[in-house]
Amino acid sequence: MAEYTVKTGEMKDGEMRAANIGGREVLVARVAGQFYAARNVCPHLGGRLADGTLEGTIVTCPRHGSRFDLSDGRVVRWTNWSGPMLALGKLLRSPRPLKTYQVKIEGDTVKLEV
Ligand code: FES
Repeated sequence: MAEYTVKTGEMKDGEMRAANIGGREVLVARVAGQFYAARNVCPHLGGRLADGTLEGTIVTCPRHGSRFDLSDGRVVRWTNWSGPMLALGKLLRSPRPLKTYQVKIEGDTVKLEV
C-alpha cells in the first residue's frame, strides 16, 4: 500500500491531476472543496482520465467520451459512440465502473492510500 499527500491549498476547485502512487496511475480531483481519487485509466480502453474534462464530479474520458462519477465510480455514459458502433463497443467491452479510492483530510493535508 502506497500513500500520496497534497496540501489542500495546492489544488483549485475543478482541478484534476495525475499521480503515480506505488506504480498505480491515480487521478486526484478537487470539486467544491471536496477531494476525490480514482484510477487514472479509463475502464473502456485505457484513456488517461486526468487529460479529460471535469464537470462537477463527472469526469469525461478524452478518448471516446465515457463519463464517470468520481464520487462512486459509476458509469454515467459508456462512450460517445452511437448506433452500431455503440452496440459493437458494448459487445467487445461491457460497461464497468471506475475504481475509486478513499481520501482522508488531516488538517490541511489530503491523504490517500492505494
Ligand atoms: S478509452 Fe475512455 S472512453 Fe474509450
